[in-house]
Amino acid sequence: MKWYWAADVEDVEKPFMKKVKVTGKSICIVGYEGKLFAVSATCPHQGFDLSSGWCENGKIICPLHGYSFDLQTGKGSEDYLKTYAVKIQDNSLYIGISSVWDDIKKVFNK
Ligand code: FES
Repeated sequence: MKWYWAADVEDVEKPFMKKVKVTGKSICIVGYEGKLFAVSATCPHQGFDLSSGWCENGKIICPLHGYSFDLQTGKGSEDYLKTYAVKIQDNSLYIGISSVWDDIKKVFNK
C-alpha cells in the first residue's frame, strides 16, 4: 500500500465531507464523530456523488435514493462501497491505496 497526501486537516473533531482526487480516483474524506474515513465518492448504486450526502449512525447516506453505507466497512444493504485506509501526519491527511497486486496477496495470505 502506498500513502498519498489528500488534504490538510486542522480539526479532526469538526465534522466535514470533502471530495478529493487521488491517483485518478474520486474519494470522499469524512470527519465524523472525531474519526476520519475515506470512501469512494461514487455511489455504487447509480454513480451519484456521495460527497453531497450526509452521515448518520456511522453511515454515509447517498442523497439521490437514500442508500446508506457503513463508513468503516463500506457495507450497504445491497452493495459495497470501496473504503481506504487513512492516517494523519503533521496536520496532513494521507490515504492508503492498495495496488491490485496488494489485493491479490491479501486474498492468498488469509
Ligand atoms: S445513486 Fe446513490 S442511492 Fe442511488
